[in-house]
Amino acid sequence: MSDPAPIVNAPPVPPRHIGIIMDGNGRWAAAKGLPRLEGHRRGAERLIEIVDACIDGGIGVLTVFAFSAENWKRPLEEVSGLFKLGEWVLRAHLARLEKRNVRLRVIGDVSALPEFVRTPLEDVVASTRHHTGLTLVVALNYGARQEIVSAAQSLAADVAAGKLLPAAVDWSTIEARLQTAGLPDPDLIIRTSGEFRLSNFLLLQSAYAEIVFASVFWPDFDKAQLQLALAEYAKRERRFGLTGEQIQVPAKA
Ligand code: FPP
Repeated sequence: MSDPAPIVNAPPVPPRHIGIIMDGNGRWAAAKGLPRLEGHRRGAERLIEIVDACIDGGIGVLTVFAFSAENWKRPLEEVSGLFKLGEWVLRAHLARLEKRNVRLRVIGDVSALPEFVRTPLEDVVASTRHHTGLTLVVALNYGARQEIVSAAQSLAADVAAGKLLPAAVDWSTIEARLQTAGLPDPDLIIRTSGEFRLSNFLLLQSAYAEIVFASVFWPDFDKAQLQLALAEYAKRERRFGLTGEQIQVPAKA
């Protein structure tokens, strides 16, 4: 049997879906002698800039890790400050989301969030549902393991009810039960602040994602930093289990 023809497998440019772990707000503030919440406030400003850059760059989906399921263990003042900031950002930028055709989506257990942020969030998710531009996914009270547990419970319930045979479970059955159902997998994950971890963020969805670690703290991650990350991503060769030879671009005749 002859070898299959080489497959052209360059990363999609621009990536269809970018995930960002916005890390380093606290250290950015500490380095400047400022309170941690000031770091988060500056981080929120950066988020707005990066959302704009993603819209301008034709990115389909941007998922940002705003509050992890583990972040509840932080000091109460910081936790409530983050939610107040989230509510303010939403209110202050709602008109912009509308104008720029952004569809807001949330992943994570939103039911545990304080009402003053949960209600406006759900309202904006509903009112932007028909938008066709960037899908902005905010991960709030999110953890990938928690998401996987919930998908497993849903599968187990369907099996127990006789609606699903164990042998019929495949990746699509699991994927449909993840909170990101219907979205493309992330092509690129960016983590700022020089830390090299995924920290329970989109673990299954990132199976084949390219990961770029930026050394700057999130409040310093500007449009130019995003361009650097995109340039790094564009250089990557995505093999999906194939050999380098199999995916080489065939030379033009
Ligand atoms: C990580 O930095 C950042 C967070 C836990 C929060 C991210 C939030 C924003 C960027 C602001 C936008 C907020 C909302 C709710 C939309 P860190 O505090 O872990 O930094 P450190 O590792 O230096 O302490």
